[in-house]
This record gives sequence, C-alpha cells and structure tokens, in this order.
Amino acid sequence: MCTFAKMKSLVDILETTNSLDGDQLAALLTTRDTDVVDYLHRRARTVAQMHYGTGIYVRGLIELTNICRNDCLYCGIRRSNTHVERYSLTTDQVMACCEHGYRLGFRTFVLQGGEWGDERAGWIADIVAEMRHRWPDCAITLSLGEHSREVYALWRDSGADRYLLRHETHNAAHYAQLHPAEMSRGHRLQCLRWLQELGYQVGTGIMVGSPWQTVDHLVEDLQFIASFRPAMVGLGPFIAQHDTPLGHHPNGTIDMTTRLYSIMRLMLPGALIPSTTALATLAPEGRLQGILAGANVVMPNLSPGEIRAQYALYDGKAHSGSEAAEGLRQLEAQLATIGYHIDWSRGDCRF
Ligand code: 5AD
Repeated sequence: MCTFAKMKSLVDILETTNSLDGDQLAALLTTRDTDVVDYLHRRARTVAQMHYGTGIYVRGLIELTNICRNDCLYCGIRRSNTHVERYSLTTDQVMACCEHGYRLGFRTFVLQGGEWGDERAGWIADIVAEMRHRWPDCAITLSLGEHSREVYALWRDSGADRYLLRHETHNAAHYAQLHPAEMSRGHRLQCLRWLQELGYQVGTGIMVGSPWQTVDHLVEDLQFIASFRPAMVGLGPFIAQHDTPLGHHPNGTIDMTTRLYSIMRLMLPGALIPSTTALATLAPEGRLQGILAGANVVMPNLSPGEIRAQYALYDGKAHSGSEAAEGLRQLEAQLATIGYHIDWSRGDCRF
C-alpha cells in the first residue's frame, strides 16, 4: 500500500473507532503529506457537521481581572510581570457586560480571570448568583484557575454550569518546565476531577507548540483528553509574550493546532471545540481554518473596551474586529464565506 493510502486509512480508523495507538497518532501529527492533512480536516469537518450542522456557538468572554497569584512562565499576566497595569472589574461592570451581551444574543457568559486566593471566592459566588437570577436562561462558565473543592462547590451551588481549566500539558516534567515549583500537574488534574465530580461541564486543553513540547507530549495529551472526556477541548497555539521568561521562544503553528482540532474531533465527536483567539491572532483567517478543521465554537470578547489591552496573556492578542462582540456582524459575514452561521443557543455539548 502506498503511504497516502496507509495514512488515509489511519484517519478512517480514527473516525470509526475514535482511537489510535500512540505511534499512529504521532504519524498523523508529523506527516508532511498535505493531502493526508486535508483529508483529516475534511473528515473532522464532516463529523462536526453531523453533530452540530453548520452552526457555530458563541460564548461571550468577560475578562474579570488580570490580577493573578500564579507565575506561569508563559503568561503575560503572571504575578512577576511588573509591566502590567492590574485591574479588576466591579460587579456592576460585569452585569453591564452581561446585559449588553444578552441584548446582542449571547446565551453563554464566560467569566475568565487570573487566579485569586479564596478570600475573593464569596464575591465571585455573589456575581454568579446575581447572573443566575437575572439571566436564568443563560449558561454561566467560569475560568478562574485552581481552587479548593469547597470553593468549586460554592460556585456550582451559586449557579455556575461550566468550568474551563486547561491542563496545559499532561507530562509532569514538561508541566514543571512551564510552571513555578509551587504548581504541579498532579494538583491541576485533581482540580479537574473535582470539577467533574461536582457536575460542572468541564473544559480542558493545552497550548500547542509550547516551549519544549514534543510529539510524544502531544500524544500523551490527546490520550489524556480522550480518557477524561471533557465537554469542551480548548487548544490554542502558544504565543510568546515579550515580558515573560519564555518571550523568546517561537510561537506554535496553525498547522499543528488545526491537526489537533481534527484529531480531537474524531476522538470525541460530540465535544465542543473552540476555534481559539490565539489561533485568530496568528493569522486573520486562523479562526476560519479552525472551523474547517472541525471546531464549532468561538468566544468573542465582551469585556469593556478600555481593559482589553491589559488582559494581554500573549503578544498581539486579538481584541477588536470580529474578536469583539461588536464585530458580530463581521463574524457572521466571515462565517458565511465558508457556509457557516452563528448558532445563538446555549450550546451544550452532545455526548
Ligand atoms: N500563549 C498562548 N496561550 C496562553 N495562555 C496563557 N499564556 C499564553 C500564551 N503565552 C493560555 C493558557 C491558559 C489560557 C487562559 O490562556 O493555556 O489556560
């Protein structure tokens, strides 16, 4: 059998069995045959459409704060970056974002921010409870880092439905290279298990092309995600931020990120897979390439315009145009060019 036929059959096996062994996954991640990669994307796109049609879910992203107790080596809002002007939205500002977003049509809000100590947990719970009360038909997603089981339970009881916490890398040694000594992969995974036990729809994922990442790491990540079965899989390219210790490392690529979207789509056909802001940051058409590789969610920014530049996780982060909620018409038009449209429903995953 010629190599193309062999590689194509790997894609077919992945589609029918939702799994491959490590060597086979590595082969799909590294093949230079663009016909194989096109075929992979095409199958993933077809599977995404079987589950979700040509509708793309939108989530309104509210960047609650850039204050963070952590010091992750890749992240622009790490605590030792003294070049960042720190902010935290007020409760009123969050409600104003939601009100604006609701009028635009959003039915999911994502509160994302740096990680705070538990002394602010009560305040977050109050915000969630107020959102739940005012917008009972909306899904509330939190993305606020690692906390105790009790804090996660408090937020869940206050009305939060979903939680996003990327594991970043499943390999313990690689995790240690990207994070300060006080953080551990073990604790990150513990948090993910707690969230799942508490009944959150959980999202996890990685940065693609992070420093020192190998193909073996990616295979390990794919296998972990497939076994964990999150509702959402967030995969975005690593993008250097110049004020961080990893600011001189090369960025991840669109090619590797979209291959991972497609493989993940075939491993977990009903999962929610966002075409991430980081992908859109690498190239203007990145967002659409992600969708054509099997992604089915985008997360426009609903944060107040004046703070967006301060939530700079990485250089060049897209925060206007179709990345902003105001750019929804532009997003609609872009999606239309590839035969897709916005689906305004809450957009729960279809497992
Ligand atoms: N490049 C790309 N993504 C990043 N994140 C943090 N820093 C960077 C960076 N430099 C991602 C992490 C985190 C999410 C909120 O943002 O994966 O989980």
